[in-house]
Amino acid sequence: MQAVTVLVGGYLLGSIPFGYLITRVAGLGDIRSIGSGNIGATNVLRTGKRHLAALTLLLDALKATIAAILAAHLYGPQAGLLAGAAAFIGHLFPIWLGFKGGKGVATYIGVLLGVAPATVLIFAFVWLLMARLSRYSSLSALVATLVIPVALWIMGQPQISLVMALLTVISWWRHKANIERLIRGTESRIGEKG
Ligand code: G3P
Repeated sequence: MQAVTVLVGGYLLGSIPFGYLITRVAGLGDIRSIGSGNIGATNVLRTGKRHLAALTLLLDALKATIAAILAAHLYGPQAGLLAGAAAFIGHLFPIWLGFKGGKGVATYIGVLLGVAPATVLIFAFVWLLMARLSRYSSLSALVATLVIPVALWIMGQPQISLVMALLTVISWWRHKANIERLIRGTESRIGEKG
């Protein structure tokens, strides 16, 4: 019963599509018809509204953090990890948007913040380094999500490492179109309307 509560609660929190809601409320229309069509912060940035992109990043991350911290508080650390992972799945497959959600990068960071906060610094360092070198948000996220499971393993957190590795695989799969564009050289860079 506890597992069901944790999974359903985490999923429902994660499935709140903040990028979609924020841009709708701001009168910008449906974010899914802008840029890459994604509901995440990178695509919200393509509307030219930096503060809305920052808010999307923050809320998409915090929903997973809250799910993880709440579940850990109620049922212990493993429940926290499960709730964070469920929130990540909720973001990618939200019931409210016909199960077509985002790519999970902000929510991935939110899970880390809830279950292994120090690794957010590693993620941020790798992401910022890659973004500075390439100016591709997608590539920066792809590399950062590869580094995290390895870092967690080295830090002696095998269970969290394995769960984050699974989330990395799912997020890479959701970045299929970005990977194809990166290979073709047609991926839009950070801040470009694309
Ligand atoms: O955070 C999502 C990012 O990696 C790619 O977003 O809008 O360029 O497909 P987008």
